[in-house]
Amino acid sequence: MQFTPLSEAPLGLSREDIMRTMAPFVKPRAEGDAAEWDAIVRKRKKGIVRRALRRLPLGWLPWQQRRIGEVIDEYSALWPRIGFDSYDPGKPPARYQPWHWGEERLLASDFGGVRLRQLMLVRLIERLKPASVLEVGCGLGIHLVLLAGRFPQIAFHGVELTAAGHDAARALQERSQLPQNLVAFAPTPLEDTAAFRRIDFRQGNAASLPFCDGRFDLVYSVLALEQMERVRERALAEVARVTRRHFFGIEPFRDVNDSGWERFYVLGRDYFRGRIADLPRHGLVPMLACGDYPQERFLKTCAVLAEKRA
Ligand SMILES: C[S@@+](CC[C@H](N)C(=O)[O-])C[C@H]1O[C@@H](n2cnc3c(N)ncnc32)[C@H](O)[C@@H]1O
Repeated sequence: MQFTPLSEAPLGLSREDIMRTMAPFVKPRAEGDAAEWDAIVRKRKKGIVRRALRRLPLGWLPWQQRRIGEVIDEYSALWPRIGFDSYDPGKPPARYQPWHWGEERLLASDFGGVRLRQLMLVRLIERLKPASVLEVGCGLGIHLVLLAGRFPQIAFHGVELTAAGHDAARALQERSQLPQNLVAFAPTPLEDTAAFRRIDFRQGNAASLPFCDGRFDLVYSVLALEQMERVRERALAEVARVTRRHFFGIEPFRDVNDSGWERFYVLGRDYFRGRIADLPRHGLVPMLACGDYPQERFLKTCAVLAEKRA
């Protein structure tokens, strides 16, 4: 698959858009940044090696694989810790991670990445104009609640494995309006700050989606296939089954993590190792792949748009 440079991709994202979106979560340039970046990278490398050693020989043995129980434990602990309050451009980031943007090094927090991915979704939906959308592996639903506010006429649905993520989303829906920090976190202005209350959130497994064939115009996933290496084929088949037109994934496809520390990181965590070229096997024909946006040092993603084969 040919990668399309961001400047030529129909997402219409400029360098300025990206910088503006991530700015509250990127450390302002200062002397000593290069040393800080190197120090964090060194520390992270040690952690990656430790984790990989625990999983040697890298997921080939059944008890070393990232099974569903491990995913549930990890995210059941994570989502209550993060909560919706953390998505706040007014709060200085508690910690920075090493990022790349081409040759450039950045220190940025994970929330900057969430906000950038949200902007990509907004731009994609502006172009595709779907009437119904499903997010697979939606966590506590940050992308859906903001997209619903931006596109109140679209029917949004989300499926999440953990009760922790699902329950947090449902608890937010008890409120009459989106909290102010989430309105501010949205990278583009919202039209209806109560539309999130209409999202259909379900607890379920991507490997067996509770929807009929061709139910949605667009199915998307953001760093969720990442967690589904052990159900990869079933999850991709399900995504292809329930979409009528498009699949969009911002995921760590093997195409962008095939060597160096990235490959070691993916193997050590037993993360998704699917290739873009696997999609046609499931009836999804890739139309666009793009990856030259800011990326975390140890795990790259690419944004892939695929069309369901007629
Ligand atoms: C890295 S988080 C991303 C969450 C969300 N997409 C976001 O960008 O904020 C991955 C999510 O996928 C969920 N997940 C993992 N395996 C799943 C499965 N088989 N079915 C549904 N959700 C799953 C996890 O519970 C977790 O909430």
